[in-house]
Amino acid sequence: MMAFLEFSNISKGYPGVQALSDISFSVEKGAVHGLMGENGAGKSTLIRILSGDQPADTGTITIDGQAQNYRSVRDAFNAGVIVIHQELQLVPELTVAENLWLGRFPARSGIIDRRTLMDTVRKRLDEIGIDVDPSAKVATLSIGARQMVEIAKAVMLDARVIALDEPTSSLSSRESEVLFAMIEKLKAKGTVILYVSHRLDEIFRLCDSMTVLRDGKLAANHTRLADTSRSQIISEMVGREISNIWGWRERALGETRLTVDQLSGAKLPEPISFSVRKGEILGFFGLIGAGRSEMARLLYGADSRSGGTVSIDGETVAPNDPKRSINAGMVLCPEDRKFEGIIQGRSIRENIAISSRRHFSPMGILNTRKESALADTYIAKLRVRTPSARQDIVNLSGGNQQKVILGRWLSEQGIKVLVIDEPTRGIDVGAKSEIYEILYELASSGMAIIVISSELPEVMGISDRIMVMCEGRVAADVPRAAFDERAILTAALPDKSTAGANSIQE
Ligand SMILES: Nc1ncnc2c1ncn2[C@@H]1O[C@H](COP(=O)(O)OP(=O)(O)OP(=O)(O)O)[C@@H](O)[C@H]1O
Ligand SMILES: [Mg+2]
Repeated sequence: MMAFLEFSNISKGYPGVQALSDISFSVEKGAVHGLMGENGAGKSTLIRILSGDQPADTGTITIDGQAQNYRSVRDAFNAGVIVIHQELQLVPELTVAENLWLGRFPARSGIIDRRTLMDTVRKRLDEIGIDVDPSAKVATLSIGARQMVEIAKAVMLDARVIALDEPTSSLSSRESEVLFAMIEKLKAKGTVILYVSHRLDEIFRLCDSMTVLRDGKLAANHTRLADTSRSQIISEMVGREISNIWGWRERALGETRLTVDQLSGAKLPEPISFSVRKGEILGFFGLIGAGRSEMARLLYGADSRSGGTVSIDGETVAPNDPKRSINAGMVLCPEDRKFEGIIQGRSIRENIAISSRRHFSPMGILNTRKESALADTYIAKLRVRTPSARQDIVNLSGGNQQKVILGRWLSEQGIKVLVIDEPTRGIDVGAKSEIYEILYELASSGMAIIVISSELPEVMGISDRIMVMCEGRVAADVPRAAFDERAILTAALPDKSTAGANSIQE
């Protein structure tokens, strides 16, 4: 088979960073090609060059034998290239249908017949298998639903080449399945798909071939993915063997630190009670939408509870007020760190040092030398890839931004209870193990930690105990000695009769 999409000697530098050096590889027609690498390895940069958004310093992209020298996103679009970026591109103020329409007829500016638009879009979404209301404003949709709209846009445009940059990072397992089915269909039509992900399971499931980037260089190219193994790819990515990324070990647990008694709220049909001891890591597992994040928000006071009490070291925490929760020693690191956390135009160091506590106060950034030093420690610990701690956070790769915001919460002093939602989303396999180490250190110092995750291997890998949630209820409470993948998964599935037939992400 002939190469349909070809990258030849692509290089790209930013001030202080060589993001890509001399990258060459090709993809056959109708193939799904994976792109993996650590945070900051250059994946999104390559995708941005393919999208016409940014020019390469040197090198050529060839599509179907024709060298492309496009200068803009429009040129790339006309050449049949559609890219779904890591950071979503939809216009939040417009409806789903309007957003899709914008993409479908980019040149058109005339008056749109609303009824026809809604009907057409609804029909097309049904065909593709996406369940969103075309008349809903994008701003009102969950991140997962937005992602699906973005993907629908690419499918509807009939591209020759589609690049997806971490498309499943905010999708539920059901949404992911819809996406995978779409990818299979596109593949059958001969579309070339470039697929960026940190999830090896997805790469092995979907891809025919793949490329590994490391520090902007081509670390490996596998023309037949079937001939290679996961551990080989991991070591190609990180440049070292990682035998046990979890690194869990027995910890002495102290007295009860956090007690939650009959906590209830609008999104929890049944009150929830549990406690966490000093030094304990309690995992909350469930499918997306199982109520874990809702539980965390109620616990922390970000949402109003309808009943129940929360206490830390025997002292009741005032309800429905995050500030008072923080004063009582509890912080919540939210799942949606990107939207809730990044302070644009500020350095990496400031973004860590601001401290989640002061983030709420009007005093703003007080960057003392001690805090800067602490920030630098976390930049190193979390392996944030940057030429300088003074770099503006917006210039970091997506995963490195995640690490910085995570660093803000992890470096917070005087915390007794840490609630952390999806700690490693978008983070590469090498840095994951560093994050787990930090959690163990914090636990060993007496913190009670609640980790919410949709990745079963992660929850099983790092927790001392797991509470499984399903449809807003606690479905199981499992001590580490009794961890069993199948049992936990079964408890998490809404329709228990189909247990085993379904599998979840990762
Ligand atoms: N506008 C910019 N200015 C300066 N440096 C940049 C800019 N954009 C990207 N970089 C740097 O280029 C390198 C590659 O970034 P890129 O976004 O391609 O990484 P990535 O592989 O997509 O990582 P991730 O898995 O975190 O998304 C990083 O070191 C990043 O900090
Ligand atoms: Mg990226």
